[in-house]
Amino acid sequence: MMRKVETIGVREIRGRTTRGRLAPLDALMIPQLASWLQERPQAAVIDVGYGEHGWTTLEFFEALREAGVMSPVVGLEVEAHRVEGAQTLARPGLRFVQGGFELEEATGQQASLVRAMNVLRQYAPQEVEGAHRAWGRALIEGGYLIEGTCDGTGALGSVHVLQRRGEALEKLGLLLWTDFSKGFGPWMFRDWLPADLRRSLKPRGDSRSPSGGAQSASVGDSRSSSGGAQSASVGDSRSSSGGAQSASVGDSRSSEGVDCKGESEWGVPGEAHWLLGAPGGASRRGGGLYEVLARWAELAVVVRAEGICENARVFEESLARLSRECAAVVLARDLWGQGGVWLAGGFGWGETG
Ligand SMILES: C[S@@+](CC[C@H](N)C(=O)[O-])C[C@H]1O[C@@H](n2cnc3c(N)ncnc32)[C@H](O)[C@@H]1O
Repeated sequence: MMRKVETIGVREIRGRTTRGRLAPLDALMIPQLASWLQERPQAAVIDVGYGEHGWTTLEFFEALREAGVMSPVVGLEVEAHRVEGAQTLARPGLRFVQGGFELEEATGQQASLVRAMNVLRQYAPQEVEGAHRAWGRALIEGGYLIEGTCDGTGALGSVHVLQRRGEALEKLGLLLWTDFSKGFGPWMFRDWLPADLRRSLKPRGDSRSPSGGAQSASVGDSRSSSGGAQSASVGDSRSSSGGAQSASVGDSRSSEGVDCKGESEWGVPGEAHWLLGAPGGASRRGGGLYEVLARWAELAVVVRAEGICENARVFEESLARLSRECAAVVLARDLWGQGGVWLAGGFGWGETG
C-alpha cells in the first residue's frame, strides 16, 4: 500500500545545471519508455527541480518530441525566481511552474513520468523514501519515477527507476551509466549514486579498502584520449588507500552468493528479491550494493590483468562475469544502450551500512 505522505521540508539548494547535462540519461531512458508514454498522451511528464535555468527541461521536452512522445511537459521548481526565469523557454506543450513535493497540486495533472535529477543531494538519506512516495503519488498506474544523481556533464550517473503499481511504488532497479570519458572503474559510481545509497554505502565488516579495485581497474585505457592520468583519478580522494590489487576471482566474497528471483516486465530479474548470503549461511534481504561494487572492482582488476585495456571492454567483460555470479546484474547494452548497467531490484530505502 502506498503510505500516507510524510511531510518533507524543501531545501534551499543551489540550482547548478549545465546544458546537455541530462542528455545522456535522456538517451538511455526515452527509447525505453517512449512507446508506453505515447499511449498515454494526456498524462504529464514532470521534470522536478530543473535548477537555475530550464535548459535540461527544454532538452528533455525536445528529446521526447523527437521520440514521438506528445505528453505535456512541466518543469517544476521550488524557487520562484527560477520559475520566473524559465518562462522564456516555455512553449506549446512545455510550461514551468512552482512546486515541491505535491506535484498534482502544483501542475493540476497526473504524470506518466516524473524525473528528479540532482534534487535530493541536499536531503538526508532517510528523506529519500518520503520524497519518492510524495512524487509517486502523482503517477498514473504504471507511471515511472526516475530519481538520481549525475556528475556535472552527465557523463556518469545513476538513477532509481520506480513504477507505480496499484497503491504501491515499486523499485524496478538501479541504472548506472558512464560514457567512459572519465575512464572506468566500478567505484567511480560511488559518488554519483542516488542520495540514499551514496551516504549509506559502507563496507560491512570488511577491513579492505573498496578503493584499490577502482584505482587499479581504472588505469590505462590505451584508446581513451584522456589517457591513463585521468583514468587514474577516477574515484575520489577517499579512494587513495589502494589495497585490492591482489583481489582474485577466488576471493571469499564470491562464494557468499548474490541471488535474486523474479522476472520484471523489463525483461530482467527484479521485484526487489535481493538475497545476499552472509557468512555462515544466513541470508539477508536487501542492500548488497557495496558487495556488488566491490566484486565488480575485483573482476575489473582481473580483466585488466588479462590484458584487456580499453575501458568499454573492461566494463563489458567484468560485468559479464559479474552477471554470471549475480543474476540481478545485467549488462544493459541491449536494454539501455552502451555503457549502462542495470541492477534489478530494490536497492536503497533501508540499505544501511
Ligand atoms: C542542483 S539543481 C538540479 C538541476 C537539474 N535537474 C540538473 O540535474 O542539472 C536542484 C534543484 O532542485 C530544486 N529543488 C529542491 N527540492 C525541490 C523540490 N522538492 N521540488 C522542486 N524542486 C526542488 C532546487 O531549488 C534546485 O534548483
